Amino acid sequence: MARVTVSLIKADVGSVGGHTTPHPKMLAVAKEELHKGVDQGIILDFMVARCGDDISLIMTHRQGENNERVHELAWNAFRRAAEVAKSLGLYGAGQDLLVDAFSGNIRGLGPGVAEMTFEERPSEPIMALLADKTEPSAFNLPLARIFADPFTTTGLVIDARMHDGFIFEVIDLYENKRILLKTPEELHDLLAFIGDITRYAIKRIYSKNESIGIAAVVSTEKLSFIAGKYVGKDDPVALVRLQSGLPAAGEVTQPFAFPALVSGWMRGSHWGPWTPSSMHASNTTFYDGPPRIVALSFQVKDGRIVGTEAEPRIGEHTPVDVFADPVWDEVRRQAMQYALYIRRHGPFMPSILPPEELEYTTLPKVRERLKDRWEPYDGNVPLKELKAEYQQEEVLHE
Ligand code: F6R
Ligand code: MG
Ligand code: MG
Repeated sequence: MARVTVSLIKADVGSVGGHTTPHPKMLAVAKEELHKGVDQGIILDFMVARCGDDISLIMTHRQGENNERVHELAWNAFRRAAEVAKSLGLYGAGQDLLVDAFSGNIRGLGPGVAEMTFEERPSEPIMALLADKTEPSAFNLPLARIFADPFTTTGLVIDARMHDGFIFEVIDLYENKRILLKTPEELHDLLAFIGDITRYAIKRIYSKNESIGIAAVVSTEKLSFIAGKYVGKDDPVALVRLQSGLPAAGEVTQPFAFPALVSGWMRGSHWGPWTPSSMHASNTTFYDGPPRIVALSFQVKDGRIVGTEAEPRIGEHTPVDVFADPVWDEVRRQAMQYALYIRRHGPFMPSILPPEELEYTTLPKVRERLKDRWEPYDGNVPLKELKAEYQQEEVLHE
């Protein structure tokens, strides 16, 4: 059986009514471009999806990862969607396309990339996890639960093919370094890093069973690091292979029943509860959030995508929209309670992110304006006289 690559490439290239949802015409032109890619033999099949204001292109092909033609195809799809956004005057049109022209590889140009290559099993179920208003390391907690916590994934205990555990590839986002850590034997070492979601992000997870190989991959691009300034959060995506020696679909979704606090939300500056949403209900309407997670599951067969559509047609697929199930209503209700609670702190910590994280937002510009107003302070001595500029009111009252 030939190896297949699934490429999930995402970008925010504009939306309607603020940072809420792309226009349907943007999704339509992205689809048109990907159909061209199928006609040219670059990809085998695809799905265009979205979470909040981010468009995700899920493509299957035989070109391997980091393939120039596949990346250029995705770039062209986003560029066309951005042109539509510009022509309709949409908000943030072209936001994540940081350069004018494509050059070789889409990594570093703005969009987020999660790609995996594997030997297709007789049945190959996959889940795409699409997030909005948060950043890549938000996936650290649920992925650790899914692949390393037997209290989440009973498969780690009772499935002989998972019993040996998994290998985690963790990236240090500041120093561009990576480390491989094995679980269960190095679980505590793994947690010593990935608990710090300001710095470390899980990039890939591999089965120790070589015949299975890659199990999960996350987009870890840091937009602000690439652009050198705040250009929105790095709303991440992930791909997870399911079943038969890998976590079951339900083991993958279970951690999302806990609305964990993740960083991002309004202005990329707040902690907020990750809220599971159906794709169609993922419009970020409360304080530009709360942060969303959408899960779409589908099959890959002979390199083609199979969803619940009656007649499989290339590019026309209906994945299982996992969190559309009403059982998730209870989690959404809890998430909203946490959202309302933490919002009551306004611009105070712990509602807003720690200062190191706010360095990557628009806040430093505000602080810069006031930097010369700070003066030495040498004890609890009141100022004898206010400077003239503050005395206006006193004079008026005399
Ligand atoms: C978060 C996000 C939004 C914007 C906010 C302000 O990732 O994109 O919350 O940061 O709507 O946007 P501007 O500064 O464009 O008005
Ligand atoms: Mg946006
Ligand atoms: Mg977004």
